[in-house]
Amino acid sequence: MDLDDTAARLGVPVEDVDRVYRLAGDLPSAPLPARADAPALLDRLGVQPDDATEIMAGWPDTESPLWTPELRWLLDRSIALVRADLGGHGWLSPGPELPRDRGPAWRHLYVYAYLALVDVVLEYHRDHGIAESVSWATLADLGRNLAVDRRMNREGWPVMQSWLTLHARGGLYQLGRLQHQRGGTALDLHIPDSGPLTPEAIDASLDEARAFFPRHFPDEHYTAFACGSWLLDPQLSEYLPADSNIIRFQRRFELEPYEEPEGLDPDVEVRRFVFRTLTTPLDQLPRRTVLQRAAADHLKAGRHWQWRRGRFPI
Ligand SMILES: CC(C)(COP(=O)(O)OP(=O)(O)OC[C@H]1O[C@@H](n2cnc3c(N)ncnc32)[C@H](O)[C@@H]1OP(=O)(O)O)[C@@H](O)C(=O)NCCC(=O)NCCS
Repeated sequence: MDLDDTAARLGVPVEDVDRVYRLAGDLPSAPLPARADAPALLDRLGVQPDDATEIMAGWPDTESPLWTPELRWLLDRSIALVRADLGGHGWLSPGPELPRDRGPAWRHLYVYAYLALVDVVLEYHRDHGIAESVSWATLADLGRNLAVDRRMNREGWPVMQSWLTLHARGGLYQLGRLQHQRGGTALDLHIPDSGPLTPEAIDASLDEARAFFPRHFPDEHYTAFACGSWLLDPQLSEYLPADSNIIRFQRRFELEPYEEPEGLDPDVEVRRFVFRTLTTPLDQLPRRTVLQRAAADHLKAGRHWQWRRGRFPI
C-alpha cells in the first residue's frame, strides 16, 4: 500500500495514515449493522432525525460511489484500531481528522466506525454483567455529540471523534447524571450537556458508581473520584453565586496545583461549553446567562480561564 498516495487522497498528513497502518495492522475489523436495521439503531443511540438522514445518505454500501477505496480502507482499519483496544480506558484517536465538507461519507466516517463497534462493546458489557439500560444510556452519547457538533456548525467534531472511542471500548459508563471513566485509582467524572447539575443528581450518580464498579470490574480498585474541567476553575466564584450548581460541584473537590494543560486551551474549552462556538468574535457572543457574561467579560479583560483537575475520596 502506498501511504503517501492514500494520505494525499484523504487530504491528511502521511504520519496519521502511517499511525493507523501500524496500530491496526491486519487485526480484525467488525461489520457494520445491516442498512435495514440502521434507522432503529440510530434512534436508540439518540441520533436526531437530521443527523440520521445524513448518516443514512452516506451509508457505506458496497456499491456506493461515495466510498472511495481510501475511505473504505480507513473505515475498516479504524474499526480494527479501536477494537484492538477493547476494554481500554485512555483517550484514543480512531484516525486522522478528515476534511468534512466532502459529503456524508467523509463527515461521518467515524460514526460508521462507532456503529460497527456497537455489537462488539455490547458483548463486552454483557461479559461484565452490565445491564442493558446502562449500555444504551452510555452509547446514546453519540446522538448528543452529533447534535452538539451541528449546533457548533461542525466545529466540535475533532474532539468528539476521540471521546467516543471511550464508549466504544467499554472505558466509560453513564450512570444517571454523570459519565464515569475507568482509570488507574480514580474514576474520572464527565458531565454531559443534559440539564442542570443538581447536587441530588450528582449524589445519586456517585452512589450508583460506588456499587457499579466493584460489581462489574472487581479487579479494579478505585479510591477516588476525579475530574478535569473548566468547571473546576476557582475564578468562576468571582462571578457565580455561592449556591449555583457549578460552585457547589466545585466544593466537593480538592484541587491539584495548577499546571498549564497539554494540548488544550482552556479559553477555547470555555467557548466550547458555554457558547458552543469557537469562532464567534468575543463582542458578538450571547449574554443571556450570568456565566455567558462572565466568560466573555473575563476574556475581554485580558484574563484567561483555567482547566483544573481535582479529586475527592470515594
Ligand atoms: C455543567 C452544567 C450542567 C451546569 O449547569 P447549571 O446546573 O445550570 O449550573 P449553575 O446552576 O451553576 O448555573 C449558574 C449560571 O450559569 C449559567 N450556565 C451554567 N452553565 C451554562 C452553560 N454551559 N452555558 C451557558 N450558561 C450556563 C446558568 O444558566 C446560570 O445563569 P443564570 O442564573 O443567569 O440563568 C452546564 O454548564 C452544562 O451543561 N455544560 C456543558 C457540559 C460541560 O461543560 N461538561 C463539562 C465538560 S469538561
